[in-house]
Amino acid sequence: MVLYDELGPWYMLLDPTADHEAEATSYVEALRRHVDATSLLDLGAGAGNNAFFLRRHIPAVTLVDLSQAMLDLSRAVVPDAERVCADMRDVRLDRTFDAVLVHDAIDYMTTEADLRAAITTAFAHTRPGGAAIFVPDVFREDFEEETIHIEGADGARALRCIEWSWDPDPADTTVRTDYVVVLRDGRDTRVVHDRQTCGLFPRATWTRLLEDAGFEVGTFARPLDDGETTEQAFLCRRPG
Ligand SMILES: C[S@@+](CC[C@H](N)C(=O)[O-])C[C@H]1O[C@@H](n2cnc3c(N)ncnc32)[C@H](O)[C@@H]1O
Repeated sequence: MVLYDELGPWYMLLDPTADHEAEATSYVEALRRHVDATSLLDLGAGAGNNAFFLRRHIPAVTLVDLSQAMLDLSRAVVPDAERVCADMRDVRLDRTFDAVLVHDAIDYMTTEADLRAAITTAFAHTRPGGAAIFVPDVFREDFEEETIHIEGADGARALRCIEWSWDPDPADTTVRTDYVVVLRDGRDTRVVHDRQTCGLFPRATWTRLLEDAGFEVGTFARPLDDGETTEQAFLCRRPG
């Protein structure tokens, strides 16, 4: 994907680590309801922005991501993590963790089969008695077309981005997100367009697939970027 593989050197201007503290704190507090975690698997960890805050509480962190460029970025954010370049739909590390986080990378599961595969991976890596968190950006019931404007700067480099999410076909399980990013480096500018397809599922589908995998399913409120509203996320326990 353009955003992760080609825009690697610009990614932290688009999505700074500091913006994730409030949500990461909610994940730590949610996990504590079920488990005193000493090991964490982060599936679709990206640059490690959530892992950075979780690592303060959980000493052993493993990051899995499909993009080597994103894992390379994460070296500066979570230096002592283990890194594995793999697909969350089929990766098998042949061990379990106290806690598993599947953050917004789960949005790239565009079919029910893909979503089931990623959930099965999370279950396979959660130890009995451990917990897993799933954080979809949005549910089918709540989806509304929206445009987000992002600005970032770092010395001579600056960017402006619009992130436009819309639904070409409300009858299927996907939505489109178009990212248009203007990159400025000194006096030079260029424009990059990344057209992404993301999955969109009703809450009932989520609950059914999580229960099918073997999880006991609960929810909690995670804070959104505006610091005022919250969205539902799943806190799941693997029975001991
Ligand atoms: C928005 S970033 C993740 C940010 C991350 N959750 C954080 O806390 O900073 C989305 C990531 O999902 C990854 N990704 C997309 N599809 C994936 C898959 N099938 N398996 C693993 N990672 C995937 C991308 O490479 C990208 O790094």
